[in-house]
Amino acid sequence: MPTALSRMLARQALRLLGAHIETAVRDGANAEARGAMLPGAMLAGQAFANAPVAAVHALAYPLGGLFHIPHGLSNALVLPHVLRFNAPVAAPVYAEIATDAFPDLAGIGTQARCAAFIDALAHLVQRLGLPPRLRDVGIPQADLPQMAADAMKQTRLLVNNPRPVTEADALGIYRAAW
Ligand SMILES: [Fe+2]
Repeated sequence: MPTALSRMLARQALRLLGAHIETAVRDGANAEARGAMLPGAMLAGQAFANAPVAAVHALAYPLGGLFHIPHGLSNALVLPHVLRFNAPVAAPVYAEIATDAFPDLAGIGTQARCAAFIDALAHLVQRLGLPPRLRDVGIPQADLPQMAADAMKQTRLLVNNPRPVTEADALGIYRAAW
């Protein structure tokens, strides 16, 4: 479960990473941006050392295990789709943290801000030049059921997800991400 400490660490991480990731990726020589990414990454790590990760990481693991996709990219590929799956129960929390990463989203209602937050993350993936879909990293559509079965083995992570995930749900998320 998130704690007051992990929430504080995660939100400060989001502020630092959200404000600087595009500059750091576009201009690797920008010391200010990279200097903000370092504590951002550290605080994010401290956050998930104090509260567990959940379905995004559970669904990311088969991408690494079966297709050797780097873990960060694996998470980026499934992130928007898991958040959309969680949104029916997690919208208030997602809306709360949306403005940490994307201050422009302030001033809109909870449901709209949650949706805009997830869209902003998906757009960020594309602006950063990452491949946005599972098909773009060479994952065959026929392998999605095996990935869903494998993801269900991550019970240590799935138990933390705000919305219960069945194997059919996992397959649906992979299909959306494909
Ligand atoms: Fe992970």
